[in-house]
Amino acid sequence: MFIRIDGKQVEVKKWDTVLSAARRAGIQIPSLCYHPALETAGACRVCIVEVFEKGWSERKQVTACEYKVQPDLEVYTRSESVLKTRRTTIDLLMARAPQNAALQALSKNVEYPQTIYPPVADAGDCVLCLLCTRACEQMGCNAISVSGRGDTRKIEPPYGANPDACIGCGACARICPTGCIALTETPATITIWGKVFERLHCVTCGAPMMSIAYRDYAVANRELPEDYYTQCQECKRKEVTARFAGLSMKVHHG
Ligand code: FES
Repeated sequence: MFIRIDGKQVEVKKWDTVLSAARRAGIQIPSLCYHPALETAGACRVCIVEVFEKGWSERKQVTACEYKVQPDLEVYTRSESVLKTRRTTIDLLMARAPQNAALQALSKNVEYPQTIYPPVADAGDCVLCLLCTRACEQMGCNAISVSGRGDTRKIEPPYGANPDACIGCGACARICPTGCIALTETPATITIWGKVFERLHCVTCGAPMMSIAYRDYAVANRELPEDYYTQCQECKRKEVTARFAGLSMKVHHG
């Protein structure tokens, strides 16, 4: 099946969205809340494009990360109306987090580096893209969610308290495109959402690994063997290589 994106013919798969098809064809559409490992949420609307299907009388604006391709679909990623909407969207996001580097980079895409909206007081760097809550949900934890309304909406654990359900996996902080979730790692601990987690260490090289709570959760919920997380990835890789070469690795216990 073929579609046209900005006049270029692009071959697509039937499960493609406009965003996945465009990226495979090397056509850049900016996005903020999209991640290939998560269900799409259409939360940021930065990926707005115009589409036109056979039989329609006019083009329609849609989010590229959600819109499924159709035969003979025509897509416009940088038309005047797309840039106008995208500029307003980014402008509103910048009012929430004017100094944020990820947003500054996006604003360059629409050649409009400053917000015309009054900045939201004390909003921090969060742009409510919901990647963190979706990542947490996908982990099966649901430790954080959106609270408040309007300008006061924010991501936090239930009642703003240390979340019982958090296992210190750090997925929320690592996936955050604006880097606004504080995650502190030392060789012994991981601190996030006000909770301190003890870390597991590789039995071979002693390198710090995931939190013990994350290991316990993964072993219990993913039916993994008890000893699945005894070694770090690097030592596992070396051990496999050594096994092929007929060597053995030294394991330090304790
Ligand atoms: S990337 Fe499509 S709505 Fe956010």
